Amino acid sequence: MRTITLINGDGIGPEISASVMKIIKASGLEIDWDIQTAGADVIKSEGTPLPERVIQSVRKNKIALKAPVTTPIGKGFRSVNVQLRKALDLYANVRPCKNLPNIKTRFSDVDLVVVRENTEDLYAGVEEMVDENTAHSIKIITRSASERICKFAFEYALNNGRGEVCAVSKANIMKLSDGLFLESFRDVAKNYPQIKTKEILVDNLCMQLVQDPTKFDVLVLPNLYGDIVSDLTAGLIGGLGVAQGANIGEDCAVFEPVHGSAPDIKGQNKANPTALLLCAVEMLKFIGENSYAQKIENALFKTLSNNIKTADLGGLASTDEFTDAVISNL
Ligand code: NAI
Repeated sequence: MRTITLINGDGIGPEISASVMKIIKASGLEIDWDIQTAGADVIKSEGTPLPERVIQSVRKNKIALKAPVTTPIGKGFRSVNVQLRKALDLYANVRPCKNLPNIKTRFSDVDLVVVRENTEDLYAGVEEMVDENTAHSIKIITRSASERICKFAFEYALNNGRGEVCAVSKANIMKLSDGLFLESFRDVAKNYPQIKTKEILVDNLCMQLVQDPTKFDVLVLPNLYGDIVSDLTAGLIGGLGVAQGANIGEDCAVFEPVHGSAPDIKGQNKANPTALLLCAVEMLKFIGENSYAQKIENALFKTLSNNIKTADLGGLASTDEFTDAVISNL
């Protein structure tokens, strides 16, 4: 039996984790879940929101499914998500964005992938108060990390039958940092003559995405633009409740939804488990459990097609009712 780390998160994390584990079990696939807690709740007992045991568990099992963990705004501990990505060098954040059945959105044929650099940029968290009225945040862009993520994007395109990779930057203003990212993209692109390339400024990209997202295929972005643009693209297919993602490194992969811990609906049996379930489906494909992945995806799509939806998608189903409906469609 395969052991997989499950970081069950906080807020709605435990609810959607329970739903996904129940669905996978009902599909007939036995997984030995190594359940790891992290976040604010473990600080009291272990003195840190991300104990070493969590990192060790992912290192050992190589694969993790992760529910969201709350990050305090403005003060408090550094994001567990950012720390985990850094500790395991999960340098590529991949967020496929494709319409789901029976979820009406402005565009019906969105099929793009956001590949976001995960380790540097303003996310490096290098900040200082210069004086009491001035704060500096340092944007770090390196050639090695930029080339690595661009190579990942081109390889992803090749392996997934995609024809174009578009580099997103603001190199007209940040000529050195974003300029280096763009230069790295152009260098890497030379090795992939079979894939078309495009370059776009991030502000123009946002405008074009809301006008016609079908023009885009694979997007590769530095960390902060990737963060923002992937929420925008999540909105194009029905919102955060259905947007999946994965953080991939050389040795390990952590599959986690785009959305956060949704404290506003915590414990109310309202959370949509779809995004985490889609992450689990991708995770199962990643480890070669394709038939179970397909079975679960079919059951999910059938459930949505039967108009069983949670409140975020305009439906009436609770988390439990939605989970049971997916199970009955397996
Ligand atoms: P959020 O994604 O938690 O919530 C935004 C809105 O979407 C809320 O109205 C929420 O109810 C709704 N929503 C999100 N996921 C949903 C789901 N599965 N089903 C139904 N409705 C859903 O974003 P917010 O409020 O900005 O962040 C809350 C906390 O989550 C913060 O502490 C943030 O730092 C953290 N966060 C953690 C992430 C992670 O662990 N990977 C990612 C993003 C945010």
